[in-house]
This record gives sequence, C-alpha cells and structure tokens, in this order.
Amino acid sequence: MKRLETLETDNSILQEAGRILREGGLVAFPTETVYGLGADALNEKAAEKIYAAKGRPSDNPLIVHIAEKEALGRIVKEISAEAMKVIEKYWPGPLTLIFGKTDAVPEGTTGGLDTVAVRMPSHALARALIREGGGYVAAPSANTSGRPSPTSAEHVREDLWGKVDLIIDGGETEIGIESTILDVSVTPPVILRPGAITKEMLEEAVGKVEMDETLFSGDSKEPPKAPGMKYRHYAPKAEMTVIDGEIQDVIEEINRRTEEDLRQGKQVGIIATEESRLQYRKGSVKSIGLRTEEATVANGLYRILREFDAEGTDCIYSEAFDSEGIGNAIMNRLLKAAGHHIIKL
Ligand code: TXA
Ligand code: MG
Repeated sequence: MKRLETLETDNSILQEAGRILREGGLVAFPTETVYGLGADALNEKAAEKIYAAKGRPSDNPLIVHIAEKEALGRIVKEISAEAMKVIEKYWPGPLTLIFGKTDAVPEGTTGGLDTVAVRMPSHALARALIREGGGYVAAPSANTSGRPSPTSAEHVREDLWGKVDLIIDGGETEIGIESTILDVSVTPPVILRPGAITKEMLEEAVGKVEMDETLFSGDSKEPPKAPGMKYRHYAPKAEMTVIDGEIQDVIEEINRRTEEDLRQGKQVGIIATEESRLQYRKGSVKSIGLRTEEATVANGLYRILREFDAEGTDCIYSEAFDSEGIGNAIMNRLLKAAGHHIIKL
C-alpha cells in the first residue's frame, strides 16, 4: 500500500502504477465516489483478474474509466445527442454512461454484453493514473463481492490485501457512494443506478429521464437492467431493517425493537443522524451524517456498515431518508443492504 499525498510530490508511484496496469496487473486507486480496482480494460486477461480478486460473478460487466472525452471514440459506436449533453454538463464526474461498444472492448470487460459502461472521473489522481495506464482502465469498486464499497484505502486493504499488485492511498473519498449509471443507448435515457448526479440534474440537461423502477421493489419479477444491481451488494453481516415514518415515531419504534433484541441477547446497531442520535437509549448508536445535508449521509453509509460488521452486530436498524435528490441513491443502497426489508409506520 502506498500513500500519495499530492500528485506533485510523488510521480514515481504513479509511474509504477501505470506500468503495472500496462503489464496486465491490478491497481486499487481512489476516485471521487469510491475506491476502484483497476486493470487495463482493453486487455481481456487483465480484466479477468479483477473478477478473480473480487470473487465477482463474471456476468457482471465492468465500467471503463477514461481520462479525456476524446478517448470515447475508440470504444463506443455512437454518441447520441442526449449523451453529448450530459457529457458536456457532468463529465468529469460521478456519472457512468452506457453505450453500444466497438470491437476494441473485449467481452471479458463487458460480461458478454454488446454495450459498455464508461466513466470519466473528476478525481485528478485517478485521471493521471488512467493516462499512465494506457487510457482505458476497467474498475469496479475495490471491495470483495458482497461487501460494502470501500471509501478508504484501509477498506480496500481489509478486502483485497495480497490479491492486488498495488493499493494507492489517497485518503477518504469525497462522495462515498458509486456513480450514477445512465443508459444513453435508449431513448429516453434510463437511470440504472442512482447516485450523486440525480434524476433532477440529468433532466435539466436532457429533458425526460426514466428510472429503472425494479431498483426500489424487492419482489419485482424483472431483474434490474444493470446486471450488478441484482446482487445483494453492500450487505452487512447483520440482519438490517429500515424504519420509515414520522421521525419521532421511527425513533420510538427503533428504541422499542432495540430493547426487545437486547433482552434476547442480540447485539444491536442503530443508524442515526446528527439530529437524532441522542434520542436513542441503548445499542451501538452511530451517526451517519446530517439529515439536513444528505451528501454527508451518503458519505457515511458504507463506513458505518463496515464498522457494524467489525463489531459483530446481529441486527441493524436504520432511519429512512427522503427519496428526493441524492436521498434517492441513499435509499437505494440502504434498501439493498437491508435486502429490501423496510417497515412503514
Ligand atoms: O463510482 C463508480 O462507478 C465506481 C468507481 C470505482 O468508478 N465503480 C463501480 O463499479 O461502482 P462496479 O463494478 O462496482 O459497478 C458497476 C455497475 C454494476 O452494477 C454493473 O452491472 C453495471 O455497472 N454495468 C456495467 N456495465 C454495464 C452495461 N454494459 N450495461 C448495464 N450495466 C452495466
Ligand atoms: Mg461494486
């Protein structure tokens, strides 16, 4: 694991990382969303190593990361007018776009699909690494499959130590949840995974945008359109329940359930906010962030799930959040972590 404070101070780490990527190896690196596990996207053998290191099902396609917009031409068939508009407005940034792919992208990278997911991160170090590594870096989140995505190099180390050639430590990630995925190969475009670039923001750029509704219903017959969204990702080891309703009722209900579980000898974790945390009487109470500033909630989510795992928590109760704006992405991740177990009061 190597720590990179600033781009200027240590170019040799970047050069070493770039060499590893070009030679077909694996490098974990920070982005503005979560840490990524990078390999040369145009080298089928290298991309396959990612699946082995993560223990990831091979039908789950990878996102190809690029450092400049001009790199897109080589890997995608067509860039629609809608795609141009969102690229103009939100790249570089936490937005992944789905396009028809060219033959330059091996099927090992796209899980056999004829489409490819592409993202241009805003993180300067990530982009410098992509350039050094040849310009096309396939990178899923750098966690073991089924664990919460990593928001620090320490999280990556917990999951992947010994399985990757290099981990670059660039501190904690800024956003804390994965990029929004927008399918621009169809009209109107469809959000396959909500994130920090919200539906409202996308609609500002292109007009009507749809949401893959299967993401919010646990019992839908249709699988989600992004293959990875069907797995119970981000799963804490504990049984998790989201409680939704008027905040005072939610707090009372969580306190009541906590008492009951503690009597049965269980270890209980509570996901509270800065505003509510002092109202919980028992259990391991953790503040996820400020309810009035939901970006802080997104930022704390995966770290907290990992902390509860480390404590050996048996059950977790979480307050619900508004599903407007980034709250939509927060609820999507919380519901997935809870296996869609939600109680509406
Ligand atoms: O923020 C992010 O996007 C992070 C950082 C590292 O950039 N990466 C990330 O990758 O979250 P990953 O592999 O954990 O999630 C990629 C998601 C999966 O749900 C996958 O199924 C979906 O993108 N995906 C990839 N290619 C696709 C395609 N061609 N069509 C539909 N979904 C696709
Ligand atoms: Mg992931």
